[in-house]
Amino acid sequence: MAGTLAVHGAKNAVLPILAAATICGDCVIRNCPDLTDVAVAMDILGHLGCDARREGSTIITTASSGGDWRIPDGLMKAMRSSVVFLGGMIARHGEGEISLPGGCELGSRPVDLHLFALERLGAQVEEGEGKLRCKAPNGLHGAKIEFPFPSVGATENAIIAAVTARGDTQITGGAREPEIADLITFLQGCGAKIHLTIDGVIHIQGVERLHGCEHTVIADRIAAGTYLCAAAITGGEVLLTGLTPGHVLTALAYLSNAGCVVRTSLNSIWLKAPDRLKELGIIRTQPYPGFPTDMQAVMMATAMGADGTSVFVENIFDSRLRHVEELRKLGADISTQGKTAVVSGVERLHGADLCCTDLRGGAAVVLGAMAAEGASTVRELSHIDRGYERFAENLTQLGVDIKEE
Ligand code: EPZ
Repeated sequence: MAGTLAVHGAKNAVLPILAAATICGDCVIRNCPDLTDVAVAMDILGHLGCDARREGSTIITTASSGGDWRIPDGLMKAMRSSVVFLGGMIARHGEGEISLPGGCELGSRPVDLHLFALERLGAQVEEGEGKLRCKAPNGLHGAKIEFPFPSVGATENAIIAAVTARGDTQITGGAREPEIADLITFLQGCGAKIHLTIDGVIHIQGVERLHGCEHTVIADRIAAGTYLCAAAITGGEVLLTGLTPGHVLTALAYLSNAGCVVRTSLNSIWLKAPDRLKELGIIRTQPYPGFPTDMQAVMMATAMGADGTSVFVENIFDSRLRHVEELRKLGADISTQGKTAVVSGVERLHGADLCCTDLRGGAAVVLGAMAAEGASTVRELSHIDRGYERFAENLTQLGVDIKEE
């Protein structure tokens, strides 16, 4: 595999930005990837009274009045992270109702930290018949929010709910992913008063109302990491452009320690892999800037044919090792114990009939199939379409023999 690829916009930045658009004026949001999760978010936005239409990779939102304060079950089921719309719904309508996201491929998806933050800001929460109803009849007010765990979505919900609340809010212990900084930049562009301190404390001064803005979404660091692993697993080379190398530092460290040559510029990464990777060592998934849980599966695929033994510890989600079973079908030697997977590098991998277990697990089995001798088939591609724009096309452009039927 060899070639150059411009990395598409970050799914996990566009989604909270669209959720925030419910309380902003008209916005022009550029570099939005064409993904099924983004399409669902646009449908939800329309349902909440804020029209969203796509022109190429730009989404234009028009904050009309009215709209519903409930997200229909079908849209909630289509995308579990729709809970991130709750803060904006309450800020816009004084109330919000969603069906409980329930479990998904990654295990249970509790929302207790979202509700903790929204209650601190003055929302009353009721749970019943699988629904979550939040009301703030007197509007939301500023508060001190101390997260016991840096939940990405809960931090985003707290920020969106606080920017037009009455008074000041201070958020400590929140998540520090680049997608949150991008949401903050977007909201500041709309007139929000947000100050992020060097130690990650978020200070917000509530404003009466927000206007619109023009914003360009950051590149998708997880998609970038996936294509870097694609080059690493095939002994190839790749030049990624249009991204911030600092957002994938941890993954780059593991790949260069495994023998890849890595060169970075302000907005590009070039990687050239050796014929055979050295062992990756121990990879523990952590909140940012630690090793991202979203890259655990693709990095595990990369380890299958490397020398020695690589160990993966999944600390973020309680069930994010479902891709192991699929990778074993390629001949990988992986043993699991609880949240730990031990990968012993094998000499060769063979083609197999594979299935995508979830978004990132799906990308991992495609990468594994690329490194195997002989042809493989991969089914359930809808998982991949949720988070990777033109995945098969991009891999073809990079010289991989892959075709989507
Ligand atoms: C975001 O999910 C991302 N999704 C995920 O990416 C990513 O894996 C995750 O952050 C961690 O980085 C989007 O941004 C749309 P969390 P989110 O709240 O916000 C527990 C992908 O592949 N938790 O940080 O749902 C939770 O169960 C997706 O692109 C609570 O206990 O992640 C999990 O174990 C997958 N209570 C851990 O925290 C809560 O109220 C991290 O969840 C919320 C979360």
